[in-house]
Amino acid sequence: MAQHDIERIKSLLGTHEDFPKKGIVFKDMFPVFQDPTAVEALISNIVHHINSTQAEKIDVVVGLDARGFLFGPLVALRLGAAFVPVRKQGKLPGECASAVYEKEYGQDVFEIQKSAVKPGARVIVIDDLIATGGSAAAAGELVKKCQATTVEYVFIMELDFLKGAEKLDAPVYSLIHL
Ligand code: ADE
Repeated sequence: MAQHDIERIKSLLGTHEDFPKKGIVFKDMFPVFQDPTAVEALISNIVHHINSTQAEKIDVVVGLDARGFLFGPLVALRLGAAFVPVRKQGKLPGECASAVYEKEYGQDVFEIQKSAVKPGARVIVIDDLIATGGSAAAAGELVKKCQATTVEYVFIMELDFLKGAEKLDAPVYSLIHL
């Protein structure tokens, strides 16, 4: 992405100290969605990156609850891929696989509908932000439980100092490093 697009998206991000609890500096990507041209730049960049680095077709974009649901489907649509949500425990009907993970602030359980990701599928896992990498690693675990392969993890923001990317089993692409 052109550097000025990255700077524009960066300037739109909100920063909230001590949210949702003391000591967390929360990065808010919702303001980006108030500017359709910024959303276009964001999605185009991610799609261009995937198309220029992946030789084979992506079958599924897996988006993480909840902000991964905002732009995961936009990326999936442009790739001609399926979109599959990973949700917090108890939200998805049907047979689910589950994985426990530690967050920057607490513990949680993620689930995926087993029938939604076929064995052998090539998957991109997408979320707005990687912090400690716990939630993305759990999503990768769920993809494995479906006997599919995560070929890349994609984020808008990466909190480099938390080294979350080191927890993941595939390359990581983040637009903005904080
Ligand atoms: N998720 C985990 N850590 C976060 C942070 N610092 N800002 C926004 N989302 C987060």
